[in-house]
Amino acid sequence: VIKDAIQGNLIIPDFNSFCKEIMSIYELTNKNKGGNVATYIPQLGRVDPEKYAISICTVSGQQFSIGDSTEDFCIQSICKPVNYCMVLEEHGEDVVHQHVGREPSGIGFNGLVLNENNLPHNPMINAGAIMTCSLIRPELEMADRFEYVLNFWNKITGHQNAMGFNNSVYLSEKETADRNFALGYYMKEKGAFPEHTNLLNTLEFYFQCCSIQTDTNAMAVAAATLANSGICPLTNERAMENNTVKNCLSLMNSCGMYDFSGEFAFTIGLPAKSGVAGGLMLVIPNLMGIAIWSPKLDKSGNSVKGIEFSKELVKRYNFHSY
Ligand code: DON
Repeated sequence: VIKDAIQGNLIIPDFNSFCKEIMSIYELTNKNKGGNVATYIPQLGRVDPEKYAISICTVSGQQFSIGDSTEDFCIQSICKPVNYCMVLEEHGEDVVHQHVGREPSGIGFNGLVLNENNLPHNPMINAGAIMTCSLIRPELEMADRFEYVLNFWNKITGHQNAMGFNNSVYLSEKETADRNFALGYYMKEKGAFPEHTNLLNTLEFYFQCCSIQTDTNAMAVAAATLANSGICPLTNERAMENNTVKNCLSLMNSCGMYDFSGEFAFTIGLPAKSGVAGGLMLVIPNLMGIAIWSPKLDKSGNSVKGIEFSKELVKRYNFHSY
């Protein structure tokens, strides 16, 4: 960052003014008291609903955070785009899409429905995420598979040792996972999984991935890696191929925000992924990654403040893709 600053190569030369604007959006959106914390996983219902954090990391590695940005929260569904990237890297697009579609489902994230080919609609909903989990290094022992996922997160967050695991959420998640078990068995019955898939291990692995935790600081770096075509801006290490990022951002754009994805793509015009713990990962390609965390959710399951923030951001800056 310092070298780029001296040479005048930073992507946002007047980063201070930009940060001031972000602070002002934070103050404004923090007044919104709407929404409810997710309670279908009891442990998630116990977080402080007033937490609010925003972090930014540009593709030149400029960073800014405000609010509760060093407090961990569960990534939940934000594991979905990252797991999708991992399987694209491992198997390539053709193999991956023999097992999962790339069309919005038009129904809720845990909908008990498959597409006309008896495959999950896309990797951003539960059925599709269970499917991508089945494709992540299935030959490894469970402990090694989990470590593999954490290592990937470490790469895309710039090796800050920022990834953790919330065991209580994991146990709670597993106890309340009847729908996910149903989805798994339904897909098994339809022959959607790769041969030799161990369904119970796959589900277990999916619950573990949802229970990974981190803070907005680190998540913004992951988002910036996606904004930067797969190269982590803090380490300059390539974590994935351009094409993987292209595919992932395309599906985040069309399917990343539950039943609000079409509306989000229309009004905000940026690829994003939300999670039921109130996290929101927003990517502005070639410019920056943003992570927002605020646990109160709207009726679609998206963070109320996260949506408010995104709306206000594109009102003040011309970030909408079109
Ligand atoms: O599978 C579940 O029930 C959740 N843990 C998924 C989390 C989530 O954020 C829903 N997203 N699409």
